[in-house]
Amino acid sequence: MESVFELSNVTFRYPGSDIALESVDMVIHRGESVAILGANGSGKSTLLKLLDGLYFPSKGEIRAFGTVLSESAMRNKKFANQFHAKVGLVFQDPDVQLFLPTVWDEVAFAPLQLGMDKERVKETVHDCLEKLGISKLKDRAPYHLSEGEKKKVALASVLALDPEVWLMDEPTSSLDPRTQGWIIDFILELTGRGKTVVVATHDLEIPYVTAGTCYVLGQGHKVMTRGGARVILEDESLLVAANLIHRHRHFHDRVTHAHVHRHWG
Ligand SMILES: Nc1ncnc2c1ncn2[C@@H]1O[C@H](COP(=O)(O)OP(=O)(O)OP(=O)(O)O)[C@@H](O)[C@H]1O
Ligand SMILES: [Mg+2]
Repeated sequence: MESVFELSNVTFRYPGSDIALESVDMVIHRGESVAILGANGSGKSTLLKLLDGLYFPSKGEIRAFGTVLSESAMRNKKFANQFHAKVGLVFQDPDVQLFLPTVWDEVAFAPLQLGMDKERVKETVHDCLEKLGISKLKDRAPYHLSEGEKKKVALASVLALDPEVWLMDEPTSSLDPRTQGWIIDFILELTGRGKTVVVATHDLEIPYVTAGTCYVLGQGHKVMTRGGARVILEDESLLVAANLIHRHRHFHDRVTHAHVHRHWG
């Protein structure tokens, strides 16, 4: 199968900071559904930003569609535009992604930037807002929306490009249960259409349902293990060690006790 991303020995350090990601080897194939799992601070968002060409490895190499993703490659406008038309990132924090005065402008931004004609942009924006159920918000200012509404606008703005590769950072956080379910169905729809989807999350429901490949990042910012979702999700000691499941207190039959608890499936 053709690979979309190939990472060899990728280490990343934010300027003046400790290592955020260490010695990561990874191959992501076209059409694959991949979950990057790991506790807070393990490096999931950093990894997605590297895949989106926003940061570049301090050591090691990332190839995207066969080309090394480097600062100099991204300075080439033609390469950068082609790359951004193929790869879209939905940020963990929509406030980082949303910066325009209205929801409509936000969703229209990337297609206009990449040269789509105005009539087609209008249709695309209309369809994306409909699909996300946020047509009523089209004239609102993104910074006045609720967290969940902002997340939907961020998704709609990536959908407007309908990239071949979707990078999603914690797509279900801040969403109500119905919308969380909708997101999981949406991921299934994307992979059903042959898209490559890489999701960073601690919501184990996502790999449980999408059943793709999982990479587990440990608190040492390295890949602890890689495997099929069903195998990883059955490995209770791994999930406890990676801080993906935990012991917490319950009240049953007037007795309070603690045990490992699953929230998926
Ligand atoms: N801009 C930054 N400057 C310096 N260090 C950073 C920066 N952003 C993240 N880090 C550090 O890099 C490491 C990885 O952070 P990252 O945001 O990738 O983790 P994460 O797995 O996405 O966590 P979360 O589950 O909380 O979203 C952490 O130790 C974090 O403190
Ligand atoms: Mg994160």
